[in-house]
Amino acid sequence: MSVAAAVGRAPGKVIVVGEHFVVHGSPALAVPVARWVEVCVRRTPGQWSVAARAVPHVRAMLEHLGEDPDALTVIVRTTLPFGCGLGGSAALAVALIRALGITDVEVIHARAHELETLAHGNPSGIDDTVATYARPVWYVRGERPAPVEMSSALPLWIGLTPTGASTREAVAAVGGLSRERPGYFATRLQRAHAAVCEARVALRAADWPTLGAAMRLNHQLLVDVGVSTPMLDVLVDAAMEAGAWGAKLTGGGLGGAMIALAPADAPMKETLLAHGAVDVIGPETPTHAVV
Ligand code: MEV
Repeated sequence: MSVAAAVGRAPGKVIVVGEHFVVHGSPALAVPVARWVEVCVRRTPGQWSVAARAVPHVRAMLEHLGEDPDALTVIVRTTLPFGCGLGGSAALAVALIRALGITDVEVIHARAHELETLAHGNPSGIDDTVATYARPVWYVRGERPAPVEMSSALPLWIGLTPTGASTREAVAAVGGLSRERPGYFATRLQRAHAAVCEARVALRAADWPTLGAAMRLNHQLLVDVGVSTPMLDVLVDAAMEAGAWGAKLTGGGLGGAMIALAPADAPMKETLLAHGAVDVIGPETPTHAVV
């Protein structure tokens, strides 16, 4: 008799304003993207279908969850690019936990946060929060996430660059800077806090020029703390010149993805591709729960 398979799904995310500073206590705003990780688990040994480089991580996650990887068959399907700041590891963690049959959303969230700690060392928790609840969130480390009501869909394009450093490395580098140059870092943290507060009001009101300005300022702060790259800066500048209200890197940085908030008729896709993006997704528009 064949053993039934259980399936779990979770979306990726983009941080609209506030990455890195959220690790140090500032709020951040993030939205899910309509790209998914789906995990299928059968409780019998069998041939896994998981990208080779992800196998050790999936095994480690299963062991952490008290499961014997050799007693399971695991299949991972994804439409979400991994390793580029779009919350792939958190989406994988949540999808895996769901596929193991855990249904209580608070438990899913808590366990996903443990798995993110395993993967990244010092995660703020924003990625596992969006992957679990699949809604736009206002997130402050250690507090209950607050849902963000949006009156309109968010016209966001995502430009991908070749992936670079891991989130763990990027977070550790910013942590090092905060210890070595506390005054310099504190000023940026304060500005990031002000930017995300403005962004929250603008997001609710669908005031794209104000939201865009907060995003562009946030990008500069991320440049200041050393997590942008020349390629990300080129794409941000190109998006602004092509009519975006705002643009910034998103996620851990040091490579990976950038986002541009732009009118529907702005030539974002062509512009980002012409300036070296390896792919462009969007516009991404979810405004509500998508699980
Ligand atoms: C990664 O998607 C976002 C960071 O702020 C890290 C974190 O919040 O855990 C860079």
